[in-house]
Amino acid sequence: MIKKILKSVREYKKESILTPVFMLGEVLMEVLIPILMAKLLDNGIETGDLNNIITIGILLVICALFSLCFGMIAGRFASIASNGFAKNLRHDLYYKVQDYSFKNIDKYSTSSIITRLTTDVTNVQNSYQMIIRIAVRAPLMFIFSLLMVFIINKKISLIFFIVVPIVFALLIIIVRIVHPYFEKVFKTYDELNNVVKENVGGIRVVKSYVREEHEIEKFDIVSEKIYKLFTKAEKIVASNSAIMDFALYFSVILICYIGAKSIVAGNLTTGQLASLFTYSMGILSSLMMLSMIYVMIIISLPSMKRVVELLDEEPDIKDSDCVFDHVPNGDIEFKNVDFSYSDDESKLALDNINLNIKSGETIGIIGATGSGKSTLVNLLPRLYDPMKGEVLVGGINVKDYRLYALRDAVSMVLQKNVLFSGTIRDNLKWGDAKATDEEIMVACNLACATEFISKFENGLDYYIEQGATNVSGGQKQRLAIARALLKKPKIIIFDDSTSACDTMTDAKIRNNLKEFMPEVTKIVIAQRISSVEDADRVIVIDEGKIVDFDTPKNLMKTSKIYREINDSQKKGVK
Ligand SMILES: Nc1ncnc2c1ncn2[C@@H]1O[C@H](COP(=O)(O)OP(=O)(O)O)[C@@H](O)[C@H]1O
Ligand SMILES: [Mg+2]
Repeated sequence: MIKKILKSVREYKKESILTPVFMLGEVLMEVLIPILMAKLLDNGIETGDLNNIITIGILLVICALFSLCFGMIAGRFASIASNGFAKNLRHDLYYKVQDYSFKNIDKYSTSSIITRLTTDVTNVQNSYQMIIRIAVRAPLMFIFSLLMVFIINKKISLIFFIVVPIVFALLIIIVRIVHPYFEKVFKTYDELNNVVKENVGGIRVVKSYVREEHEIEKFDIVSEKIYKLFTKAEKIVASNSAIMDFALYFSVILICYIGAKSIVAGNLTTGQLASLFTYSMGILSSLMMLSMIYVMIIISLPSMKRVVELLDEEPDIKDSDCVFDHVPNGDIEFKNVDFSYSDDESKLALDNINLNIKSGETIGIIGATGSGKSTLVNLLPRLYDPMKGEVLVGGINVKDYRLYALRDAVSMVLQKNVLFSGTIRDNLKWGDAKATDEEIMVACNLACATEFISKFENGLDYYIEQGATNVSGGQKQRLAIARALLKKPKIIIFDDSTSACDTMTDAKIRNNLKEFMPEVTKIVIAQRISSVEDADRVIVIDEGKIVDFDTPKNLMKTSKIYREINDSQKKGVK
């Protein structure tokens, strides 16, 4: 897992290695300084030797300067390395997610993908920085300080052989207690993101149903949960410093006691005693740092897991080896197609579908919500792959096309269309990047979009805000239709996409397509029977099965469901 993540370090390897190297330099200087201090005290101040004071003093300043420089350089490298690493990791994740099929995306929620790309990457970045800086520094500091104590006075070093294991054990206990809290905190973050995303994404609905209070409450509950977990965890972590203080004073007292005896016996100088205090600080603080790193790594482990999960996710729709990059025509054939959103065969969204549609036909699809209409058409541009059976477009299995060629030839207009912030022209050019204004206008004409575009004072340059809040639902749909037409597709699918337009416009668009794009296969999924009445043939779908497939006229005679839908809607009109 860690190997996989570390792949993203790439060009920042140099900085990642230099950081601990400079850290080593800093630690060496820091270990040297107390020795020099001891010398200064013993050979300079005690003896009153001014020359010694000056030479040792200069050495001290030089060491301190080096230590400072090394520390600064190491910090610089560490931040370049960790930020660069995070940048690469984010890039890799984003890149991977772009390759995901709908099925892959269904598996994670959108907010979970967002958390992984933001919070989780930041966690991984922080622990990476910690590791290259402190995970090297702390053990070095610990070993060198202990070594120095040992060299100066063996008896005193024994103190640490008792204190260190005790402190170490206590720290481990704390970490053990704290760990589950932190893990819970990050799970709750997902929840928080979900609430925020749902609320902010649907803020208009929230407002129109006056559900703000309820939404705030929902947010507060999750927010409170995080607050409680975090304070609990941090309270426990705070006991760290109490243990440290205790261990430090305990050691200092013992050092004083044994040190004083040794000085009297002539085995220790006052300077050395002073340096022992500094080293004991070094030993204990590096222990503390190690425990912090341990916590940090434990915190970021779930994040790492979640990041790797995204990296490991195999896009389940990929270009096959045998590739056609041209779709010859708009013929459609389904052969014994089964499909399920889960891998559970008993919950089929499509059940044994067999279909034959000729290029240029207009096909209506009608059926209750949830009957599988959208699912059926999603298989055409390979947004999903069937579980069993084959889907053929232009006489060739969709799996044998290059994805871009297939999706270029199969244009889909959805009920809920997404326009991106930018001018109308920018948005329409998604359909064809090279389209001229004339071509764009032709498409807009067919989609009945010209009349409202011409009302905007800057026409095609009209700026669509993020979330397309400054165009109406019907306008949005017509723009989406124009965008789909610009692709010059072989098959165009309207998934309930004219429901926001009035019936007149709806009919006019269908007429335009019939007249001006006779060779294109048109599939119209509709709630309104009037939208499919002028189709060549209509598919009636129920619970994932095709129950009838015939001309509207024949269906009136033969199809019970079709007649029922017709009756209920026509009655409403009268
Ligand atoms: N992304 C999805 N994940 C899981 N189940 C889904 C998904 N999309 C649709 N379904 C289920 O598949 C069935 C058919 O849905 P759909 O094709 O969207 O119906 P329709 O378009 O006819 O309203 C429904 O039971 C729906 O709940
Ligand atoms: Mg649908």
